[in-house]
Amino acid sequence: MKADGAKGKNSTMRVLITGGAGFIGSHLIETHLQRGDEVRAVDNLHTGTAENIEPFLSNPGFEFIKADITDWPGLAPAAQWADRIYHMAAIVGVHRVVEDSMKVLTSNFEGTKRVLEAACSGNPAPRVILASSSEVYGFNEKASFAESDDLVFGAKHQFRWTYAISKLAEEQLGLAYYLNRALPVTAVRFFNTTGPRQLGVHGMVVPRFVAAAAAGEPITIYGDGAQTRSFCDVRDTVRMLNQVAESADAVGEVVNVGNDREISMRGLAELAIERAGSGSPIEYISYEQAYGRHFDDITHRRPDLTKLFGLIGYRPQWSLEDTLDDLIDGQRSVARSLSVGA
Ligand SMILES: NC(=O)c1ccc[n+]([C@@H]2O[C@H](COP(=O)([O-])OP(=O)(O)OC[C@H]3O[C@@H](n4cnc5c(N)ncnc54)[C@H](O)[C@@H]3O)[C@@H](O)[C@H]2O)c1
Repeated sequence: MKADGAKGKNSTMRVLITGGAGFIGSHLIETHLQRGDEVRAVDNLHTGTAENIEPFLSNPGFEFIKADITDWPGLAPAAQWADRIYHMAAIVGVHRVVEDSMKVLTSNFEGTKRVLEAACSGNPAPRVILASSSEVYGFNEKASFAESDDLVFGAKHQFRWTYAISKLAEEQLGLAYYLNRALPVTAVRFFNTTGPRQLGVHGMVVPRFVAAAAAGEPITIYGDGAQTRSFCDVRDTVRMLNQVAESADAVGEVVNVGNDREISMRGLAELAIERAGSGSPIEYISYEQAYGRHFDDITHRRPDLTKLFGLIGYRPQWSLEDTLDDLIDGQRSVARSLSVGA
């Protein structure tokens, strides 16, 4: 494929995924292998897991490399091989971010710089999709966030912003490579993405709530539960990403990717309990108790998807209820198989 560089929408291609053993990365692997593409995934298994990529290892079109993108010598050859790169590798999760601000800033920025530099050595250069985050909108008070909106970071408790700043720096670096080196980059601002293979251990709210609701155990909300988020099923996210990557108009742009249905954390806990048919009580703890230090949470977060839907035809297919039902079923079938094996 690389020889002529011209790829129609239906032709197969070579795809490099950084952070491939992670949550979103593993769904990108699945989608592209289903398309018949060749896929290489690199991951240092920091938050990603071997189980996430295990189902793909027998596919002859798939290769996994356990390496850290900040020093992997194979990065430039892999980027030269690729028609498309999804750069998903990053240190994520509020717990990790609060614990190791220095690593978040340096590793996320350095990894992105190496990926972009490697992509520039491709001939032609691969299409690059770079993962950013809705966290960059910070304390913006608008009801929904559009890409042209101001990014509002608080002055106090500056370590709160290390992840958002690392993501903003990655975006800006990607756009600089587009402007100065003509690299075809799009930075995608993910709003909360959820679905199978997301882990609750790093603080992600949906898997935490689902595990508790399915088991009939207490659901713990951080703060008062009035804060809102907008959840997009990862199976919708990866289809939207594929179409963003196919869009010539998206090159050199920042684009929100998500689902614009908004729900409070209290509402999410109640919905998880209702879908699980369980009697889980809801408990509240402060952010200090949850994270071990003061934490300014963002009160609301809903994407304005006007720009995204102007670029792609795909619309989210998964409702939050469908996603919760699917996760609860998955959780219960794991619990059943463990009890049979015990
Ligand atoms: N899931 C969401 O709701 C969400 C929201 C906003 C932004 N994002 C962004 O999307 C991307 C994917 O997130 P995710 O939810 O799949 O998280 P994830 O933690 O499951 O995936 C990130 C992967 O990157 C790997 N990784 C981290 N540093 C690495 C390094 N230096 N070298 C190699 N691999 C490395 C981790 O092991 C992990 O597998 C991240 O860049 C994240 O910042 C995700």
